[in-house]
Amino acid sequence: MSTTSLDDLNKRRFVAKQGGGTARIEKIHAKGRLTARERIDAFLDDGSFEEFDMFKEHRCVHFGMEKKKTPGDGIVTGYGTVNGRLTYVFAQDFTVLGGSLSETFAEKICKVMDMAMTNGAPIVGLNDSGGARIQEGIESLAGYTEIFYRNVRSSGVIPQLSGIFGPCAGGAVYSPALTDFTVMVREHSYMFLTGPKVVKTVTHEDVTTETLGGASIHTTKSGVAHMAYDDEQDTIEALQKLLSYMPQNNTEAPPVLETDDPLDRTCDELDDIIPENPNAAFDMQEIIGSIVDDGVFLEVQPEWAANLLVGFARMGGMSVGIVANQPQVLAGVLDNDSSIKGARFVRFCDAFNIPLVTLVDVPGFLPGTVQEYGGIIRNGAKMLYAYAEATVPKVSVTIRKSYGGAHCVMSPKQLGGDINYSWPNSEIAVMGAKGAVEILHARKLRELEGEELAAFVAEKEKEYSDNFANPWEAAKRGYIDDVIQPARTRLRVIKALAMLQGKRASNPPKKHGNIPL
Ligand code: HXC
Repeated sequence: MSTTSLDDLNKRRFVAKQGGGTARIEKIHAKGRLTARERIDAFLDDGSFEEFDMFKEHRCVHFGMEKKKTPGDGIVTGYGTVNGRLTYVFAQDFTVLGGSLSETFAEKICKVMDMAMTNGAPIVGLNDSGGARIQEGIESLAGYTEIFYRNVRSSGVIPQLSGIFGPCAGGAVYSPALTDFTVMVREHSYMFLTGPKVVKTVTHEDVTTETLGGASIHTTKSGVAHMAYDDEQDTIEALQKLLSYMPQNNTEAPPVLETDDPLDRTCDELDDIIPENPNAAFDMQEIIGSIVDDGVFLEVQPEWAANLLVGFARMGGMSVGIVANQPQVLAGVLDNDSSIKGARFVRFCDAFNIPLVTLVDVPGFLPGTVQEYGGIIRNGAKMLYAYAEATVPKVSVTIRKSYGGAHCVMSPKQLGGDINYSWPNSEIAVMGAKGAVEILHARKLRELEGEELAAFVAEKEKEYSDNFANPWEAAKRGYIDDVIQPARTRLRVIKALAMLQGKRASNPPKKHGNIPL
């Protein structure tokens, strides 16, 4: 090899690695942000990155673009490892034409997406883009659509994650939306279809990028993003952690890690965690923290629909998806948003062979016009659909209440729940005693007043509670498999999960089902 050829290669590599040039890189750093390459370096194991298409250029000849060429065209693509496991990656380089997507740019992304599918490994996109490259027009729209098509074909086959580090505008938003999890950087990133200026023209609303599509919106109001962190490093670590719970693809089991946390550790604090007053709240996070390995729970969408907790943990080293009602928020009822959140999470876990552990304390579905007009019938049905369709091991523990329609939703045996346990003070019934008495004795209640009314209500509520506000009716019918001591919940769930490791179940052959969207 001549020295000149190597010099030429090194020079070309140097130029490509500069992206949009040092001035633009400094501008990015001045804002406390990383470049595309720095993000890849932080995300992948040291020295593992292998890059493709570093010298690929766009082919646009409009608006003087033939003179504006940057090797790599503003997108860095390739593969490496995360904690030793093969992962494909692309990172949009804002220093090159605002990270905007050209035909070439899309081709580079599609190449690694195709490789990820062929070789059965996750793909992670690190997004920072002003959307379709305006100078190209239809080619960039076609390019986006090629990416969306691959996102959909990869869905449920390989894990797909998105990090949002800067703008994610216009066409750029739909690829993250089609991936499994989206993680944003607070203050620095935003996602919207149309920016504040267009919004002002069309709807006359005054909005900023943050109030329209910042992390503060997408993690609390829209549910578009699953997590947000204050800085890029934490955002990158969240993507790494998410991957650690997942298999490489849908034909594999998730990784099992050694744990020092004893499988038979009793959780004595749980014997006293439920308040005497059945309407008083307790923190479901404490129960999760107590039963999972080392108390580590990676919560997904913690700030959106917080009446239902979902996220990943390990039990006895096994990766599990946790779904749990949170009595501290709206008394743990199911509503539109929490049903959508829960159903999507259950489907993710099922697609990637991650067993489900469901902790139940649910007083029912939230009544009212807001919920009905918002489609609680359709949305609640999503939960039913997701649990019924899931063939992964499904273990549930009824912690306290499990009432009515919401009982039917939270992984019961009749939806294919494998193991259903209950704590001794739980109430598995059609509804609470108060509601039941109001309906069953409505006429009598109208006739009575004062002390007589109070005494009658107390007597009837006690009668209903004695009959139904307990787990024994369900236990007698075998609807629950055992009533367990709270302190032994960790051990009992781990034993159930271990027993279910060889579970084989499948749904009837079909093109695909028709989940009520
Ligand atoms: C070409 C673009 C670009 C784009 C930014 N740039 N967006 N070039 N196409 N879409 C260039 C700018 O001209 C500028 O070049 C450089 O990137 C940095 O941009 P700035 O505006 O200086 O940066 P900033 O102030 O941080 O603003 C970032 C931004 C803004 C908010 C993203 O650039 C912006 O509003 N861009 C357009 C966003 C948009 O409307 N996208 C939708 C496209 S249509 P110089 O040379 O000056 O540094 C679309 C529909 C597809 O995506 C639908 C498919 C389904």
